Amino acid sequence: MATSTGNPDANQIAGDDGVRRRDFIEIAAVSAAGVGGLVVVMPLISQMSPSADVLAESTTELDIGALETGQAVKAVFRKQPVFVRRLTAAEMEAAEAVDADSLRDPQTLADRTQVGHEDVLVVMGVCTHLGCVPLGAAEGENKGEFGGYFCPCHGSHYDTAARIRKGPAPSNLLVPEYTITDTLLVIG
Ligand code: FES
Repeated sequence: MATSTGNPDANQIAGDDGVRRRDFIEIAAVSAAGVGGLVVVMPLISQMSPSADVLAESTTELDIGALETGQAVKAVFRKQPVFVRRLTAAEMEAAEAVDADSLRDPQTLADRTQVGHEDVLVVMGVCTHLGCVPLGAAEGENKGEFGGYFCPCHGSHYDTAARIRKGPAPSNLLVPEYTITDTLLVIG
């Protein structure tokens, strides 16, 4: 499902054997300054450091057609990790069972997903405390007390909707701007 490109960030995380584990896939992401600029921009990015302007406008594209329930993808968006997970029914139910108003950063699962794709959770893999990369995307990693993500740096626990539930992080894992068209996820 992955398309390897000249993007060095993408290639750093690209798996060499596709689906390595049942619920975790590392794939290469296409990152470019706009979809239309893909062919032209990529060689430039591979030869020189992108300017701040180019970086700010870049997008990450993932084909999530093969992403099965309970599987996660770890990709790179603007040089930062991003986690894409197709939630299980139990994970969605757990998230929806919580009174959002009781949360430190009140958001429902619906607030954090898109209509028609409520099972696809796209979040930055950057703890909102001091910026560590939380655990939980890969099989066997500690998902914390609420079954989502866990940041061991200072003990922040995120739930299945990646909302902060315990620990020092002030807010939920950030949901970047993204669109889903058929099976194509475009972040940015
Ligand atoms: S950076 Fe994540 S808990 Fe401190």
